Amino acid sequence: MNGRTASITFFSGTGNTRHACTLLAAGLERAGWRVRLREIAPPRPEPGTIGEAGVTPTGQPADLAVLAFPVFAFGMPHLVRSFVRRLPPVDGVPAAVLAVYGDDFAGPPSARRRTSGFEGGALGEAARLLSRRGYVVRTSRGVGFPASFTQALQPPVPDEQRLIVADSDATVEGIAADLDAGRHVLMNRRPVLRAAGGIVRALFSLLGRRVLGKLYVADGRCTSCGWCERACPASAIRMRGQGRARRLPRWSWRCEACQRCINGCPEAAIQVSALRLLLLAGVALLPYGRWFAAAAPGISFPGSRFLAWFVGTLLLTVAVDLLVRLLERVPGVRRSFWISHTRNFRRYRGPSASGAGGHPGAS
Ligand SMILES: Cc1cc2nc3c(=O)[nH]c(=O)nc-3n(C[C@H](O)[C@H](O)[C@H](O)COP(=O)(O)O)c2cc1C
Ligand code: SF4
Ligand code: SF4
Repeated sequence: MNGRTASITFFSGTGNTRHACTLLAAGLERAGWRVRLREIAPPRPEPGTIGEAGVTPTGQPADLAVLAFPVFAFGMPHLVRSFVRRLPPVDGVPAAVLAVYGDDFAGPPSARRRTSGFEGGALGEAARLLSRRGYVVRTSRGVGFPASFTQALQPPVPDEQRLIVADSDATVEGIAADLDAGRHVLMNRRPVLRAAGGIVRALFSLLGRRVLGKLYVADGRCTSCGWCERACPASAIRMRGQGRARRLPRWSWRCEACQRCINGCPEAAIQVSALRLLLLAGVALLPYGRWFAAAAPGISFPGSRFLAWFVGTLLLTVAVDLLVRLLERVPGVRRSFWISHTRNFRRYRGPSASGAGGHPGAS
């Protein structure tokens, strides 16, 4: 026992980050550290738990506070960002950030090659936010685990998943050894891409993640078990339906796009509705900027067209969602919303999914 303490605070959508943190904790414990592992959620960060990152169970500041999260759209998950912003200030607690991004394999069957994900500005953003709360970020590292963005892409096939996980496990063990030895690495790569990611990150946080939630539908395979409602870390899912109507999940605007529901549903009943996708994509493509310029020719300032696009998209998206909800009540029409590219997609469960919360049979 070397007497040092670490607190590892993490969020994980599909289990990769949970797995990485469990390994990191085990590595530090083997080196004699006392480690406290804590998840931001489920189901949502509770006010009472906000602010304990970097503090041991005895109330003493830890020797090291680790914050870990999956990378969403080149940034931190919105939920983690607001968690960090609400941390009470500390005085110089050493910190490390671990960003878990998505790796995959690509290419023809005879020449499949591993493709690395990209953490964008996630590490820099986390370091900035933590330092505003008084933490001193000494280490910031990224590691790729199998990509989980099942709404858009097939997850890697199981054999490729295993290859990625085995390789990345070794990376995480190396990070634990580096932290133990005080070898600090501040990963800071590809500045141009990092900067370009800023706008994507901001739009995703404001609108993109919410719209991704609005693409979900539960198809005829849904058994109304309610697991998705319980497992959602953002409380974005509510089971609806009264009387003789079957209770079915409905997605609100709070979605974090973490992919837990689509990957974890025991019936693989959650799909991305092609019809919802078409309608909502159509809404975003309308020329609001031009309409605004024509309607109010005297009002022009830098970004006015973008603002018009943003507000127009927002308002019409809400209107289309209401309309779709009405249409989905009509039995004959409902089935057309089940048409989806994800019906035949594999689902992804992170390596520690079986023994941890966030997946069926575990929560
Ligand atoms: C909405 C969304 C956006 C993502 N954006 C990125 C990204 O910008 N770069 C990347 O490398 N991986 C990206 N990923 C992949 C995840 O970061 C990756 O699968 C991660 O390992 C998931 O961790 P978790 O299982 O702890 O949730 C994205 C995943 C989702 C769901
Ligand atoms: S987890 Fe799947 S089967 Fe259960 S209520 Fe949700 S969509 Fe339906
Ligand atoms: S609705 Fe699904 S994807 Fe969105 S936050 Fe909840 S579990 Fe994650």
